[in-house]
Amino acid sequence: MKCRKCGRKAVINMRQHKLALCAQDFLTWFVKQTERTIHRDALFEQGSNVLVAVSGGKDSLALWHVLQQLGYPCNGLYIGLGIDDGSAYSDRSRACAQQFADQHGMNLKVVDVAASHGATIPEAAQVTRRGAGKPCSVCGLTRRYLMNRAALEGGYDVLVTGHNLDDEAATLMGNTMNWLVGYLESQAPLLPEKPGFVRKAKPFHRFYERETAAYALLRGIDYIQEECPYSADAKSIYYKKVLNQIETDRPGAKQAFYLSFLQARDQIQFTGSGERGPLPDARCSTCGQPTRGGRQCAFCSTWQNVRARNKPLEPGR
Ligand code: AMP
Ligand code: FES
Ligand code: ZN
Repeated sequence: MKCRKCGRKAVINMRQHKLALCAQDFLTWFVKQTERTIHRDALFEQGSNVLVAVSGGKDSLALWHVLQQLGYPCNGLYIGLGIDDGSAYSDRSRACAQQFADQHGMNLKVVDVAASHGATIPEAAQVTRRGAGKPCSVCGLTRRYLMNRAALEGGYDVLVTGHNLDDEAATLMGNTMNWLVGYLESQAPLLPEKPGFVRKAKPFHRFYERETAAYALLRGIDYIQEECPYSADAKSIYYKKVLNQIETDRPGAKQAFYLSFLQARDQIQFTGSGERGPLPDARCSTCGQPTRGGRQCAFCSTWQNVRARNKPLEPGR
């Protein structure tokens, strides 16, 4: 197969775009498409001060690389979750993020959950009832909260994550299979800023996962290839598999499923129960963040509970 632009040997064929490209033209196309998405979806403006949430995986490192090329002032944020499970997953993902930052002369802020909050994510999951002992629920809550706080405290205009179209389509499938209306309402490539919450954007939401992987590989970015060990039985992986099966039979179906949802959501009358709904009046008594019901926000009450129940046993007991 030949590159549509120059006729040299193509390295990737993107059937949903009917576009095959060689390495050089793919890299140029990828950066231009990211810029186009940022403008088309009004994610943020040129010159915005960007905080990139970096997991050490291909998507977020590729995103950091592309945004730097596009001239955005951007720093990285890595959240150390303390996931070991015999594979030193967190240590190795942090090392990938740090190595990337060092190689490219970029600035990475690291927030370690155990050091700042007294327990790793797996430890926290064992002592709370959130997520029935599985770490994913407390992990998601903690990551979202800490990312938002770091972005607000650092005075950033926008927090960006590396979510790609496969991630978004799998989430959409989960949300529609269970008709989670509040989640459907807040599933968007842009969540505008509001008091207590930084603007959040997903500049890669129109790329297939294989495209972000191709960018990282062609750029020689060293990233952690495994998924989190706790995601092995996650529903999202199952939904990705199902969507890929549909995509094999009908190229472009995954893209159509997700992008037509984005169009449809503008016509749907939501009740305002999701993150996009009106701001609650109540403020968390511990951190001051707006919160729905209760004295404390979910993050503060969860971690207070974790610290109370995760006290190490005294010597001799
Ligand atoms: P995931 O939910 O693991 O698919 O990750 C989605 C996005 O969240 C990644 O592309 C990153 O931008 C961000 N992210 C995930 N884990 C971390 C982490 N430990 N620290 C900072 N950002 C993260
Ligand atoms: Fe959070 Fe797996 S439990 S990344
Ligand atoms: Zn709070």
